Amino acid sequence: MNSRKLKMVVASLALIAAPMAMADESGEDLYKTYCWQCHGMLANGMGVNIVDMSVQPRDHSDSKEMSARSDEELFTAIKDGGRAIDKSVLMPPWGGVLSDDEIHSLVRYLRELCKCGK
Ligand code: HEC
Repeated sequence: MNSRKLKMVVASLALIAAPMAMADESGEDLYKTYCWQCHGMLANGMGVNIVDMSVQPRDHSDSKEMSARSDEELFTAIKDGGRAIDKSVLMPPWGGVLSDDEIHSLVRYLRELCKCGK
């Protein structure tokens, strides 16, 4: 392969890789926008809202609890709220605010937080 062709291949790979990298950052950004106030700055369930809450938000850094959930369950919990997985209504449904792609990014980010895959 000559160097001109090689440059073109590298450039097009960068174009493919850039949006993928952004998708994963957006999970973190979305979390900071919508989830921190309850789940906490450290994702440990100690957000500023919890003083008046009767059920403590999930500690998303707890790999034991979080690995008990499949990606689908996390997706459903975020999209349709706590009630959809028999949890508290204090976990709001986000389906009206976030797209499915954004929710998938959040699920990936939760897996980074808990350092647990499923
Ligand atoms: C108004 C407070 C509040 C906000 C905001 C909030 N949550 Fe929650 N969340 C909760 C509470 C409370 C629970 C625990 C429900 C229970 O244990 O019954 C919970 C539970 C969850 C669970 C279920 C974990 C499990 O396996 O039990 C997931 C996943 C989750 N939240 C993700 C998110 C994400 C992602 C966001 C941001 C888009 C978010 N939450 C925003 C309050 C909140």
